[in-house]
Amino acid sequence: MNVEPPVSLDAFAGEDSQAIREGVFQCLRQGCLNRQSPFHTLSLATVDADGGPEVRTVVFRGLDVQQRQVRMHTDLRSPKVVSLQRDPRATLLWYAPEWKLQVRARASVAVHHADEVAAAYWESSHPRSRRVYNAPYPPGAPTPHAVTDIAPHLLDAVVTMENTAAGFGTFAVMLATITRLEWLMLYASGNRRGCFHWQDAAWRHQWLAP
Ligand SMILES: Cc1cc2nc3c(=O)[nH]c(=O)nc-3n(C[C@H](O)[C@H](O)[C@H](O)COP(=O)(O)O)c2cc1C
Repeated sequence: MNVEPPVSLDAFAGEDSQAIREGVFQCLRQGCLNRQSPFHTLSLATVDADGGPEVRTVVFRGLDVQQRQVRMHTDLRSPKVVSLQRDPRATLLWYAPEWKLQVRARASVAVHHADEVAAAYWESSHPRSRRVYNAPYPPGAPTPHAVTDIAPHLLDAVVTMENTAAGFGTFAVMLATITRLEWLMLYASGNRRGCFHWQDAAWRHQWLAP
């Protein structure tokens, strides 16, 4: 994986915070659109029932810059859904080793299931993506023997919209609304860092010591 960044990374060495913000969002946009992008997956950190931290990798499915929303998909039965329903606060983390760029976002996550939002993304999901939502066991459940997340009847089948349709019952969309977006760029000449806060309906930039 060696994808060219969608913008010149020189912007991050400059003083123009608007250019930096546009650069961050363009890198994020490329991440959700391009499977080869280093930003195509992210770490999603949440708070568990005991107030402890938990983190896992998820696929970056969509970005709505106007709404400041990052979209991810998950199995409704997975522990992270319980955590988010209890406490919607989350941190999202991306790192592109090739670009030496880290992006970290604080967000509040809404879980959508069996509603119009979930239905729209379910209908536009590829059958291969829909297949795992037919998994016989909930993610993280102890199993009596080694299992995969593919239901026996789909194991050797050609997956179609029809034979994966039942998975809608466990399909959930996580929409994370960003309130703070922090960036860190590593340069041999000295690292650079700053963050954007969403305040009074606008992004405010603050330089930070790296
Ligand atoms: C590359 C990669 C991509 C993944 N994408 C997703 C995803 O989009 N959604 C998801 O729920 N889990 C995804 N997983 C699995 C999660 O990391 C995690 O194991 C699973 O969701 C259970 O998390 P939980 O027990 O914290 O709820 C992915 C794992 C990897 C390694």
